[in-house]
Amino acid sequence: KTISLIGAPTDVGASVRGAGMGPDALRVAGLNEALAARQFHVIDHGNLHGPANPWQQPVNGLRHLKEAIDWNQAVYDAVNQALIQGHLPMMLGGDHCLAIGSISAVAAHCRRIGKKLRVLWFDAHADSNLSTISPTGNIHGMPVACLMGHGPQELISYAGHTPAIHPADIRLIGIRSVDAGEKKFIHDMGMQVFDMRYIDEYGMRNVMSSALADLDADTHLHVSFDMDCLDPGIAPGVGTAVLGGPTYREAQLCMEMIADTGLLASLDLVELNPALDIRNQTAILAVDLIESLFGKSTLVRM
Ligand code: ARG
Ligand code: MN
Ligand code: MN
Ligand code: MN
Repeated sequence: KTISLIGAPTDVGASVRGAGMGPDALRVAGLNEALAARQFHVIDHGNLHGPANPWQQPVNGLRHLKEAIDWNQAVYDAVNQALIQGHLPMMLGGDHCLAIGSISAVAAHCRRIGKKLRVLWFDAHADSNLSTISPTGNIHGMPVACLMGHGPQELISYAGHTPAIHPADIRLIGIRSVDAGEKKFIHDMGMQVFDMRYIDEYGMRNVMSSALADLDADTHLHVSFDMDCLDPGIAPGVGTAVLGGPTYREAQLCMEMIADTGLLASLDLVELNPALDIRNQTAILAVDLIESLFGKSTLVRM
C-alpha cells in the first residue's frame, strides 16, 4: 500500500499562530521513516502552497474566509488525486479547517465508487460552530458543520454534493469543550458524540467498539485526528489545549483498535503547533501513535 503525505502548512483557521509548522515538525520527528519501517511505500508530496495568514479580525463571523477557501481547495485537489491513484492520503496540518477539503474529497470518492463512509473525529472540541454562533469566528471551529452542509457556500460545496457527509457518517471522540450554540447543533443533527464523561464511564475499549460498530469490507474509514484531543500533559504542542483528555494508553488503544479493522483509508493529522511544543515531543508522540494506527504491535509480528 502506498501512503501519500500531503503537507498543508497553514494556520489561517486557528486562534493562535504556529500550526503551519506542523508538517515539517512531523517530518523532523521521523514520520516518513516510521511508515517506511512498517512496510509502506511512502510518497511525500511536500507542502501545498496557499495564501499567507493575514491575521485579521472576523468579518461577518468568519475569520480569513477567503484564505480558508483557497487552502481547502488545494487540500481537496491533492487528496482527490491521491485517492484516484489508489493511495492512502495522509493530510498533515495545519489547522483543523483543512479537514473540510480533505473529507470532502474522501466523501466524493466514496460516492464515486459506492463505498460507505465512517469518519472518526478525535478532538477536545466539537468543531460544529456556525458563523452565527461561533464565539471566535475561527474556521477551525467549524469543519464538522461545514461538512454537514452548514457554512459558507464555498466551504460546503467542494465535493460537488451538499452535504458532503451525513450525521450518521461521523463519530466524535474525546470531546470536552463545546460552545453553547454547538450543543444545540449537535442535538439537532443527532450526531453520535463520545465525550470524555462517556469515555470515563464506559472505558475506551467500549467507546471504540461502539464507534467502529457496523463497519464492513465496503466501508472507507477516515480518521481526523486533532492533536488537542490528547491530554495536554502528554501533548502540549497545540493551540487550544483543554485539560482532561485521553491518556497515552487510551490513545494507543484507539489506534490499535482502528488498525485491527484493516479499513483505514485516509487520515488527517492536524493542530500540531510546534511553536508551543517542548522539544518536539508532541510531534514525536504523533508519530508513535501513527505507528500503532498502521499496525505496529508489541507482540504480533507484522
Ligand atoms: N470552539 C472553539 C471555537 O470555535 C474552539 C475550536 C477549536 N478547534 C480546533 N480545531 N482546535 O473557536
Ligand atoms: Mn478540531
Ligand atoms: Mn480541537
Ligand atoms: Mn446526500
